[in-house]
Amino acid sequence: MDKFILSLDEGTTSARAIIFDKESNILGVGQYEFPQYYPKPGWVEHNPEEIWDAQLRAIKTALENAKITPEQIAAIGITNQRETTIIWNKDGKPVYNAIVWQCRRTAEIIEDIKRNYGEIIKEKTGLVPDAYFSASKIKWLLDNVPGLKEKAQKGEVMFGTIDTFLIYELTGEHVTDYSNASRTMLFNIKKLEWDEELLEIFGIPDAILPEVKESSEIYGYTKKELFGVEIPVSGDAGDQQAALFGQACFDEGMVKATYGTGNFILVNTGNKIKYSQNLLTTIAWGLNGKISYALEGSVFITGAAVQWLRDGLKIINSAAETEELASKLASNEGVYFVPAFVGLGAPYWDQFARGLIIGITRGTTREHLARATLEAIAYLTKDVIDDMEKEVSIKELRVDGGATKNNFLMQFQADILGKMVIRPVVQETTALGAAYLAGLAVNYWESLEEIRDLWKVERVFEPKMDEKEREKLYKGWKEAVKRALGWARI
Ligand code: G3P
Repeated sequence: MDKFILSLDEGTTSARAIIFDKESNILGVGQYEFPQYYPKPGWVEHNPEEIWDAQLRAIKTALENAKITPEQIAAIGITNQRETTIIWNKDGKPVYNAIVWQCRRTAEIIEDIKRNYGEIIKEKTGLVPDAYFSASKIKWLLDNVPGLKEKAQKGEVMFGTIDTFLIYELTGEHVTDYSNASRTMLFNIKKLEWDEELLEIFGIPDAILPEVKESSEIYGYTKKELFGVEIPVSGDAGDQQAALFGQACFDEGMVKATYGTGNFILVNTGNKIKYSQNLLTTIAWGLNGKISYALEGSVFITGAAVQWLRDGLKIINSAAETEELASKLASNEGVYFVPAFVGLGAPYWDQFARGLIIGITRGTTREHLARATLEAIAYLTKDVIDDMEKEVSIKELRVDGGATKNNFLMQFQADILGKMVIRPVVQETTALGAAYLAGLAVNYWESLEEIRDLWKVERVFEPKMDEKEREKLYKGWKEAVKRALGWARI
């Protein structure tokens, strides 16, 4: 009987299930969206039960599409939207909705904590204190759900990010992996343990925390009533780290960029912890008794700017159209677009920056706007990679995500970086990374070398732009960004 790996990719807007074979071909996919809740401006929630329901349906559809049975699943890997916080009772019922990574309700709690403990937090967790991470979200739940603090102290409830919640529903085990733990802002990435001082600062009892395990090991087996068989759940990593793994970026200096609503760029820094002023230090994965670290740059708005051209300005019908429009011009003709819709993330970290289009003349057309948008995605990615290069040398960029289909964008990315941009055959690198982690734990795949050989190039974009042109364009971008910074303060 042929065996396969089932990967669960639980993202911010949908739950997906993908079945891979030994050559990392995709056999079947299931995907279901779930509702987003915005109870107040800046607040974002999910209902964990709706996520679980969407995930189960996605698994069923993927199995049907692949025409295989649960008996043929050798192992399950999990990858997830990171930081999103859930507290649930022992029967698996959540005490409140999940507070999503994007939710800003705890921004004020963080302002105070940042003033007093900013340095300590950066040193211990590698993170820049922000409402983005789980710590202040847990604190909010403990302070606002009646009776929860007492229950937490008695260890009657459990905290977890989405991976932990899914593993609990699947197996009954309360665990997470190093990569997800490192996004809570409570985990000491040097000592590799929950940090007592940080738990105290946030008033979080350690009784609610999951056990932290490697990213590739058997955490438990699926409950028989779910699929009729007990399948090992043996891979777990946050989605951006899983994508780094799926891109086979196993060595120091290897970097991937995922082009989604925003861009997430991660560089493997090997077994060394590297700090960078404007980037996050994070755990990439724990594997075979070793920890790999990464530097991460999160750019909030990239693909969302293309969506805005389509749904806001209505000057394009589809995202794909931007490729043709942008290619009609020989240059940007001095038009720049800084899509700072929600401020700017790495490396600027300015909550008050706002979007800006500059250089408009009477001759400016939608071609210019399309081109400026695609160029902006490439400049924002370069901003992060330039910062990474201060810490580690980088040769090339591996890319994945929806916008990487856009050949204009990929060529421009290579040109503006002055580095090769490499697009792999399998674009589902996040799900694939989780599948690899799960498969390694059950010997479905034997080694990293085997996985390295499975990673195949679809197309390489070589830099063609001359140095002078690159410098001139990038200087224009930096000038445009300067003008967008702090705008909401005015
Ligand atoms: O840190 C948040 C990130 O993990 C979310 O990823 O792909 O669900 O938008 P995604």
